[in-house]
Amino acid sequence: MAYGQSADIILRGGTVVDGLGSAPVVADVAIAGDRIVAVGALGGMTAPSEIDARGLAVAPGFIDVHTHDDLACLAAPEMTAKLSQGVTSVIVGNCGISATHLRFDAAVPEPFNLLGDADRFTFPGFADYAAAVDRTRPAVNVGALIGHSTLRLACMAARDRPAGAEEIAAMRALLADALRDGALGLSSGVFYSPARAADIAELRGLMGALAAAEAVYTAHIRDEYNEVAAALDEAFEIAGPDRVRLVISHHKCAGVQNWGRSVETLGLIDAARIRQPVLLDCYPYTAGSTIIRDDLADGKIEILINWSEPHPEMAGRQLADIAAEWGCDQPAAARRLAPGGASYFQIHEDDMRRIIAHDGCMIGSDGLPVDPLPHPRLWGTFPRVLGRYTRELGLFTLEQAVHRMTGLSAATFALADRGVIAPGMAADITVFDPTSVADTATYDVPQAIARGIDLVFVNGRLSWRRGEGTGTRAGRFLRRQPRAAPPDQSA
Ligand code: ZN
Ligand code: CU
Repeated sequence: MAYGQSADIILRGGTVVDGLGSAPVVADVAIAGDRIVAVGALGGMTAPSEIDARGLAVAPGFIDVHTHDDLACLAAPEMTAKLSQGVTSVIVGNCGISATHLRFDAAVPEPFNLLGDADRFTFPGFADYAAAVDRTRPAVNVGALIGHSTLRLACMAARDRPAGAEEIAAMRALLADALRDGALGLSSGVFYSPARAADIAELRGLMGALAAAEAVYTAHIRDEYNEVAAALDEAFEIAGPDRVRLVISHHKCAGVQNWGRSVETLGLIDAARIRQPVLLDCYPYTAGSTIIRDDLADGKIEILINWSEPHPEMAGRQLADIAAEWGCDQPAAARRLAPGGASYFQIHEDDMRRIIAHDGCMIGSDGLPVDPLPHPRLWGTFPRVLGRYTRELGLFTLEQAVHRMTGLSAATFALADRGVIAPGMAADITVFDPTSVADTATYDVPQAIARGIDLVFVNGRLSWRRGEGTGTRAGRFLRRQPRAAPPDQSA
């Protein structure tokens, strides 16, 4: 216990939701420097800053496990979209695309353009990127996966076929280097053209490096539509033999004809979990968002154009209306609007709820930070889970909701000293009002600050206070820490 110990900040009398899923308890939380030093009845302890947290939830800072903030965290390091939700760490490099090892002379090819413009791809290696994050000091911590599509671009001259043995060896070497420099793991996106020709053998060839480092593999699977079951099997088959921790990214059953199939897909995931570690992430919305693709314009789902390079004036309009105005079908209109981004209303609410409530599901926004009119998940994901899905609809308890945003995420991505309120852990803390927390971002007005997020501490520094950033940017680059060091009680 910590009597007599010094602290810089004490949060008094808040309801501590510890991140492990334990029942909330009223307790004081003491912070010294960048660490939590004591949790409990700390009446004998004083600090220069004592904050009354009665009636508020005191939780670990939220970890956004699925982001594309690779370059945004450097270009706009205030990270307001995330900090304002109580997010204190983002995991970048998802869906096979990450910012290192690549240079583009002209336009950035899809889907790398989701990350930013060509002039921002300036990192020859993973260590250069890590150093840039530490130098820039974004307002939130940044952990990074390395993308399989990134490795393909770096190691293969032609990508219309599976990699050969030498190319796999080259990719494995870059992956091993990145892991040595702290990468959290590998992501893949065989749904997207740079990696579509990759086969199971190619990806399996990279799993050994992950297993040796106890690192994670996140997969944007090949098909989230009619072939979703086969696509899940492919991911299980890739990660299974080496028992690599697999995360199914933004799991969904997309397309009207697949609504209801989450019963089947979660059954497949549960069956796989008997043999191998499988987790998933999900965002609390029924629309997905990605680049404009004509093959997704099936005429059945609503498609909202978020941005279009050739037709910027069409941002915020329905594809169906644009097609009608142009006198063409929707796929043709989509081809004319590309390159660009869109939101696809392709998910049934019941499937989304079933998936997000699954034991192994973490919360990840999949927000696209460079979209001029982004999907509201970029600004609303975490408060929406806490407000709409926890308080209003009772999909899970508050402690379960917080666990999916913190402790479960930290354990999955090997962030050993984050995601839990306990002595010795990093002082990433979000204080929010569970009775009012809510998202305000909508498809029409997506850049809107959530309600009810009172205080956000990043590495012990107050970074957000009731609706505004404090100007402090205390984020760090987070390196993989596979084994939990015993919490240092004496710090
Ligand atoms: Zn994805
Ligand atoms: Cu993604």
